[in-house]
Amino acid sequence: MRLSGKQILLGVTGSISAYKSAEICRLLTKEGASVRVIMTSSATEFISPLTLSTLSKYPVGLHMVNQDQTWNNHVELGLWGQLFLIAPASANTIAKMSGGECDNLLMATYLSARCPVMIAPAMDHDMYTHPATQHNLDLLKQRGNMIVGPAFGELASGLTGQGRLEEPELILKEVVRFFNSAKALSGKKVLVTAGPTREAIDPVRFISNHSSGKMGVAIAKEFADQGALVTLVAGPIQIEIPQGITHIPVESATEMKDACMSAFKDADIIVMSAAVADYSPKVVSDQKVKKKDDAWNLEMTKTPDILSEMGSMKKKNQILVGFALETENEIENAKSKLAKKNLDIIVLNSLNDQGAGFGTDTNKIRIIDKNNKVTEFPLKTKAEVATDIVAKIIELSHA
Ligand code: PMT
Repeated sequence: MRLSGKQILLGVTGSISAYKSAEICRLLTKEGASVRVIMTSSATEFISPLTLSTLSKYPVGLHMVNQDQTWNNHVELGLWGQLFLIAPASANTIAKMSGGECDNLLMATYLSARCPVMIAPAMDHDMYTHPATQHNLDLLKQRGNMIVGPAFGELASGLTGQGRLEEPELILKEVVRFFNSAKALSGKKVLVTAGPTREAIDPVRFISNHSSGKMGVAIAKEFADQGALVTLVAGPIQIEIPQGITHIPVESATEMKDACMSAFKDADIIVMSAAVADYSPKVVSDQKVKKKDDAWNLEMTKTPDILSEMGSMKKKNQILVGFALETENEIENAKSKLAKKNLDIIVLNSLNDQGAGFGTDTNKIRIIDKNNKVTEFPLKTKAEVATDIVAKIIELSHA
């Protein structure tokens, strides 16, 4: 049995092909998976919940509140699933997923699920090729959702084209492939930081830096793709966080430290790519500081050095990775941070390299290890840089 012990949420939405969800459910359970089904109300017009509860051996989730006034806990459902398969996924549900709507149990579960999501669209050809549907599917793909099909063939409308629900056997194959794909960091707990911090001066002003969070989010995504359970502690950033990553938003260096320290205890791997402020105003004014005629000298105090604190507490089996953003004496400064902060490796990027550092979609890095060996990489996209960094960490974890 290829899916023994796997827990799969099966979402069924309103499509003529909803009857095929019974076959999908049967195939999954036959392979040893536990399957819990959630249906939208329009799905129940095409197939009876009784069929799916009988096949799955679990009550089918239909509404947020049941008739006996008990509550379907969508968060618990979302946490239970190791994969959320939505098959068939109608154009309407795909649009809701892309827009983050939450008007039924399936959508509430989708929004709270931490597991990967696989979607098998099913609709008429014209609905499928409509720019709105294509845009929604692109968006879901960008967020890390997997898309299976749709297939080409005869449609319920009588037309022939792409839009048919992929055959249940093929959907099963994709599910098995998903669970079997060798993921180097399956089950590892990873903490990543990203973005800037903001240190308040008064209710309207703060001190910060140019970090966009692109580098840190790319690293978090790469870890998630390698099967890790990722917590991303990020300062204020404007980037969409891929599904499946636990995102803890913070503002200041102190808030970042608090969030990091609770995740640090259990983390196997820690990558600190955030640009944390080194100083913050000594006093934060309750009211907006008024403009005066003379200069304004702002007294600053040191923020906690989160990475250094982690370095001093690090357990033997933890891998601790720091970043160094330098503008001069790059290698020397990075090596000194590597040693002082007790890191396993440090990732150096320099503002002297074009296309590297803050805000760009690219970066140019050097990785320095504990033996002071420097590995230089060419300019690459931040996604590719993330792959290089994670590959190095996987190598370390095997050593
Ligand atoms: O976000 P992007 O726009 O994509 O840009 C990416 C980046 C340039 C921000 C990133 O690649 C990067 O270099 N991040 C680290 C920036 C930095 O603060 O470097 P640093 O040399 O000042 O700090 C050294 C290390 O100590 C870093 O891992 C930092 O997270 C950590 N640190 C620093 C200060 C502090 N108070 N606590 C810390 O933990």
